[in-house]
Amino acid sequence: MKRSIIITGGAGFIGSHVVRLFVNKYPEYDIINVDKLTYAGNLANLKDIEDKPNYSFVKADICDFDTIYALMQERKVDGIIHLAAESHVDRSIKDPFTFAKTNVMGTLSMLQAAKLYWESLPEKWEGKRFYHISTDEVYGALELTDPDGIESPFTTKASSAQHHQAYGSEFFLETTKYNPHSPYSAAKASSDHFVRAFHDTYGMPTIVTNCSNNYGPYQFPEKLIPLFINNIRHRKPLPVYGTGDNVRDWLFVEDHARAIDTIFHNGKVAETYNIGGFNEWKNIDIIKVLISTVDRLLGRPEGADLDLITYVTDRAGHDKRYAIDSRKLQRELGWEPSLQFEEGIEKTVKWYLDNQEWMDNVTSGDYLKYYEEMYNNR
Ligand code: NAD
Ligand code: DAU
Repeated sequence: MKRSIIITGGAGFIGSHVVRLFVNKYPEYDIINVDKLTYAGNLANLKDIEDKPNYSFVKADICDFDTIYALMQERKVDGIIHLAAESHVDRSIKDPFTFAKTNVMGTLSMLQAAKLYWESLPEKWEGKRFYHISTDEVYGALELTDPDGIESPFTTKASSAQHHQAYGSEFFLETTKYNPHSPYSAAKASSDHFVRAFHDTYGMPTIVTNCSNNYGPYQFPEKLIPLFINNIRHRKPLPVYGTGDNVRDWLFVEDHARAIDTIFHNGKVAETYNIGGFNEWKNIDIIKVLISTVDRLLGRPEGADLDLITYVTDRAGHDKRYAIDSRKLQRELGWEPSLQFEEGIEKTVKWYLDNQEWMDNVTSGDYLKYYEEMYNNR
């Protein structure tokens, strides 16, 4: 079946994996990547698919209602996968306004444009879908039952479940009450409410998913994993916030993209699905794994760079523990993570070490020039 789908934020980390998956898997679809290309958007993330006939890029701000509405009419859009957002918690602490503007007003602009366009069609909502990508951070923070009692090992699937239990017995469910703490998660929570309100008020066919921390290639190196891999490589200090015992639940980004594909096509309208890999790690343990993996791959002696660990002032309002229960998605739609954490982290470290040019461009700012030129020449 032919479809015309806007993917917002497709030049970012997760968005680029979703665009790549859809472009390669659905040659009959028209995949339109709508991205403003902020500091986090990078067209080099999509170099391998940019010439495919079913792919196009439109540089636009999701807050620009007129442009988005005209694009939906022109391209007869019937599906939206909405990822564009300001995504970094530390930036939201410094500049909450930008987060409210993009994440709340930008989402509202996407919703209103889709509503006006779809309501104007004879078939109205039939065959339409507005899929909003959200985060586990909207649920707030869980308690950490035994921060010192467990070492995060490289896990097998079985021991991963035990490991999970060891951190605490509570998980985020789809029914968990929203309780965001950072300006980032407050803005994401607000956007989730708007999406659900458009279903409840107008009947728009919406879906919301809340995913745990993603890791993998093409992540902007302000986030823990790519930042630390790059710092270890260059033997720069590793700034560990607070005590380093905060827990995050990590999922390989391609598994998130596969979940989005499954849910976009088979998820039930008005439902929420949690996405996660049952893979909790204390920050300090993951940092030690990164050090030993980078050192091994670079042929450095085991533990050579442990002294780069530098404890710094904690992030304001730092959430203690996130842990997603994704059994609804596994049970109802049959999705499950494909990669064990050992494989995912090895692949990820290798990718960053092999793609130093990508990292250098992103950290030097040269890539801004690169994509401006590329875009202007299209
Ligand atoms: P990212 O920061 O890497 O990418 C965001 C993209 O959105 C960039 O390409 C940027 O240019 C674009 N963008 C920002 N403002 C825009 C605007 N006004 N108009 C158009 N485009 C704009 O983010 P990410 O980590 O890939 O996250 C993508 C989505 O997934 C976000 O909604 C985020 O909340 C959600 N999410 C992220 C994670 C994670 O671990 N990274 C986990 C769960 C959910
Ligand atoms: O849980 C999903 C969320 O995961 C997404 O919604 C966000 O968009 C994404 O950025 C991520 O948020 P986190 O704040 O968990 O990710 P970050 O990589 O910034 O930090 C991971 C943990 O590491 C967190 O406990 C803070 C800590 N940290 C982070 C950085 C950048 C450090 O100790 N030092 C650092 O320098």
